[in-house]
Amino acid sequence: MDRFIINGGNLLEGNVQIKGAKNAILPIIACCIMIKAEVTLHECPHLSDIEAMLKILRAGGGIAKYEEDCLIINCKNFTPYCIDSEYTGALRASLFVIGPLLSAFKSASVSYPGGCEIGLRPIDLHITGLKSLSVSVERSNGKITCDGINMKNSDVFLDFPSVGATENIIMASVLGKGVTRIYNCAKEPEICDLANFINVMGGKVYGAGTDKITVEGVVSLSGGHYFPTKDRIVAGTFLIAGALMGKEVVLDKVNPSHLLPLNEKLIASGASIILDSRRIIVKKSLKRRAVKRTETRPYPGFPTDLQPQFVVYLSQCRGCSVVVENMFENRFNYTAQLQKMGADITVKDRVAIIKGVKKLTQSRVEAKDLRGGVALVLASICAEGESEIWGVRHIDRGYDSIEKDLEGLGVQIKRLKN
Ligand code: EPZ
Repeated sequence: MDRFIINGGNLLEGNVQIKGAKNAILPIIACCIMIKAEVTLHECPHLSDIEAMLKILRAGGGIAKYEEDCLIINCKNFTPYCIDSEYTGALRASLFVIGPLLSAFKSASVSYPGGCEIGLRPIDLHITGLKSLSVSVERSNGKITCDGINMKNSDVFLDFPSVGATENIIMASVLGKGVTRIYNCAKEPEICDLANFINVMGGKVYGAGTDKITVEGVVSLSGGHYFPTKDRIVAGTFLIAGALMGKEVVLDKVNPSHLLPLNEKLIASGASIILDSRRIIVKKSLKRRAVKRTETRPYPGFPTDLQPQFVVYLSQCRGCSVVVENMFENRFNYTAQLQKMGADITVKDRVAIIKGVKKLTQSRVEAKDLRGGVALVLASICAEGESEIWGVRHIDRGYDSIEKDLEGLGVQIKRLKN
């Protein structure tokens, strides 16, 4: 069980290179199941979630290896198997193999996924969508068994713009017969990136980024090279770190248009942010004002994956801020750890009331999920003295050796391996 020791209070200065987005690369890796050729993904971070996804491909005979930050995948010898909880228990994204398995093999047997415990995380939208494609779905003994012998592309209406359900239905339709139209679909940048990847490999996916996506079935996909979109959540995390403690922090290789809601809130609170086409420069402001109300929403609204990090920031803003978590019903559980560090946060159901400024103090805290865990890192960077963060394995799921990037910015952080 690795843990971090952080001596907080230092100002941050320097550059951070943002790598490929976890939540774009995971569905793209799943998509490789239906590509009988070599795919090279460039500028990929080394994350435990990516390793967990590659394990699923390798167990079916796929080849997957890193060459520095290139991920080389070849599923020409992949054969379907019952993917049990040994493989799916680690991450929610394991659900995304269903679509490609149906496209390529017209069947799938996958155990229920694991992932961050931030809510019930049902899969009904995935199931309803697949049934719209005439897939028969059985759920028993913790497994999801799909029979696509009669499947055909068709119209699909999502009750809610679910990211994963949108991705699964796109991938289930790529090698299908006819045209699938997905209405009320998710519009996240990671959806656009999956569509771009599929089109680069010979697929026909149109309308990604809007609330209607059209997929025209093709016979097969080719291999090739692809540069996944940069991780807007990792970028937003470092942007908040800079707004909290930055003398001057420069984020390279980011797409500022993916972070508009966060930029707007940080600037409104008094942070100094300069945007150009591929960089963001951020400095802390001494007069940080509370942000009256923030609500997490599907893209392009305020991202739920930046909610914990932003709550830490609000704890250092003068006045009373309110955050409403509309996406997941249990995504404030990290605040108990922040309260140990002195934060004044009251949570009732999906609403958090944050009163700043309360100076954060060193403490021994434990990460219980990915984004709540990285929020504790941000809090420890602010807190004078030596903080200890347990449960670093949660943070490693979505941040590639975050201690190296933070050390590069002047944070006194070390990883103790147990
Ligand atoms: C993806 O999860 C991301 N994960 C999450 O990031 C992200 O928070 C989420 O999208 C929302 O943006 C990956 O891409 C691997 P959803 P996903 O389906 O697909 C409900 C991180 O920290 N819902 O858009 O699981 C669900 O309960 C992770 O990187 C149903 O009701 O999210 C939630 O309330 C955390 N039925 C809402 O929709 C379903 O069948 C959004 O879920 C599916 C979802």
